[in-house]
Amino acid sequence: MNILVTGGAGYIGSHVVKELLATEHQVVTYDNLQKGHQDAVFGGEFVTGDLADKQLLADTFKKYDIDAVIHLAADSLVGESMENPAKYYHNNLINGINLLDVMIEHDVDKIVFSSTAAVYGEVEEMPITEEIEKEPTNVYGRTKLAFEQVMKDYQQAYDLKHISLRYFNASGADESGEIGEDHDPETHLIPIVLQKVLGQRDELAIFGTDYPTRDGTCVRDYIHVTDLAQAHILAVEALNEGQESTAYNLGNGDGYSVKEVIETASEVVGNNIDAVEGERRAGDPAKLIASSNKIKEELGWTPQYGDLKTIIATAWNWHQNNPQGFEE
Ligand code: UFG
Repeated sequence: MNILVTGGAGYIGSHVVKELLATEHQVVTYDNLQKGHQDAVFGGEFVTGDLADKQLLADTFKKYDIDAVIHLAADSLVGESMENPAKYYHNNLINGINLLDVMIEHDVDKIVFSSTAAVYGEVEEMPITEEIEKEPTNVYGRTKLAFEQVMKDYQQAYDLKHISLRYFNASGADESGEIGEDHDPETHLIPIVLQKVLGQRDELAIFGTDYPTRDGTCVRDYIHVTDLAQAHILAVEALNEGQESTAYNLGNGDGYSVKEVIETASEVVGNNIDAVEGERRAGDPAKLIASSNKIKEELGWTPQYGDLKTIIATAWNWHQNNPQGFEE
C-alpha cells in the first residue's frame, strides 16, 4: 500500500514511519513541522504541509496514489486544550474532517486514527475496556471522541473504514537511539525525569500526593512507542484485509505510580533522583490502566517492550545520545 502518515515527524509518528519503512509498504509523511522534526524521518517521501491546506492534501493523494491513511497530526496538550479550545477544535476536528473529505474524493477508504485514553474521562473500574461510557474531562479528549464519531458517520454514508487506537501513556524511544521524544514544551513525566538527571531542569515536581492510589500519586499505564507503532501497522493491514471498523485500547495493563516511575528511573540511571512533592495538576485522573485484550485477540498485537524498566532504559538511551533533542 501507499500509506500517508499525517504527523509522521512527531514523536509517535516518527516511530510509526520507521516501523513502516521496514515493511513492503510505501510511506508518505505529511507534517506541518510545527511540533515535528524533519530529522526524525529517515525515508519515504516527505510533504511539508498543513491539514488546513486541502489543495496540497488533494495534490499529495494524487501524486502518490495513496491507498490508506494513518492520521496522527493533532494538538495534544490537555492543559492547553482547556485554555484554547478553538485551536483544538480547528486543528483536531475541522482539519481532520478536511482530510476525510479529501480521502472520500480520492476513493481512499481506510484510516487508522490516533485516539487517546483521554476519551474515557474519570473511570471507576480498571482495567478500562473499549465499550465503557465515555465522558472526557478535557477539550483534547472531546476533540478525539468527536472525530471518532465523525468517522462512524462517514462510514454509514461513504463507506469509510476506520480503526481508532486509543493510546494510554506513550513513552520510551526506538532502540537505535536515533529517534525519541523531543517536545517543546515537554510536559510528560518520563522525559522530564530524565532531563532532571541530565541537569537540564532544576526541579522535578510530583503533581499531587493525595490521590486514592497505593502511594497517593497518579497511576498510569506506560506503553513503549515501538509497540504502539507496530499496532498501527497491524491495524492498517487488517483494514486492507477486510477487518471491520472498530476502536482498540493500547496499554500494557500494568499501572505505575509517579513515585514508582521515578524509582524505576533511578535504577536505570544508577542514581537517586530527587523530586519535590507538589500540588495536583488540573484535569489529571487518579488512575488509568488499559485492557488491551481486544487488540491482542483480534489483531494478534504482542508488545515487545512491556516492562517499565525497558521503556525507561530506551528513553534514557535517546536522551543521553541527544541531550538537545533533534538539531533544527
Ligand atoms: N507528572 C508529574 N510531574 C511532572 C509531569 C507529570 O507528577 O512533571 C505526573 C502527571 O500528573 C501524571 C503522570 O505524571 O499523573 C503522567 O503525566 P504525563 O503528562 O506524562 O501523561 P498524562 O497521563 O497526563 O497524559 C497522557 C498523554 C495525553 C493523554 C493522556 C490520556 O500525554 O496526551 O495521557 O490519559 F491525553
